[in-house]
Amino acid sequence: MTRAPDLHADVGEILLTEEQIATRVAELGRRISEDYAGRPVTLVSVLKGSLPFMADLMRAIDLPLRIDLMEVSSYGGGATESSGLVRILKDLSATIEREDVLIVEDIIDTGLTLNYLVRYLRGKNPATLRICTLLDKPARRLVEIPVDYIGFTIPDQFVVGYGLDYGELYRNLRFVGVLRPEVYAGPAEAEVAGV
Ligand code: IMP
Repeated sequence: MTRAPDLHADVGEILLTEEQIATRVAELGRRISEDYAGRPVTLVSVLKGSLPFMADLMRAIDLPLRIDLMEVSSYGGGATESSGLVRILKDLSATIEREDVLIVEDIIDTGLTLNYLVRYLRGKNPATLRICTLLDKPARRLVEIPVDYIGFTIPDQFVVGYGLDYGELYRNLRFVGVLRPEVYAGPAEAEVAGV
């Protein structure tokens, strides 16, 4: 029988509380506002995982700003793996030529998705292109990407909440947490693994 997800019980450990996230997002907003010093900026967020971060970060930035949204899917990898083969599901809705663009990401893991995105957006000739990510998981990086703003550096664990999903669930949790192992394994595998 398929077990019904229990959003809170499925999370074994809370890695970042709602308060820690709010404090850090406010700090990032202040730093970005200082660095751009009154210049207009275009935030490009990558759906769907970045939604809560984007919504909070944009309100923490005191600059004239526009937002745009892209959606990409990486295919060929497993449910918790990225493949580097990226497909654009939703493109920018306006030009970013000669604009100061800041990519807003939820998490950088292998870096393959962002690497593709950076090359794609550079081709649209923005004046500057910087990256802001809420979470950085450097242990699994496969391509080097210079990241300008990092919320938190986290260990090599699969996390959910505050936008991040497993099987499209858990995005609505207010904190970032680590899933219990039995959520990954099916019931049979969980029994063998003793979880
Ligand atoms: P990358 O291409 O390996 O850097 O993967 C980036 C994308 O994979 C992120 O935008 C997320 O959608 C997803 N991802 C990577 N690690 C996690 C995680 O721990 N939890 C949830 N999604 C993740």
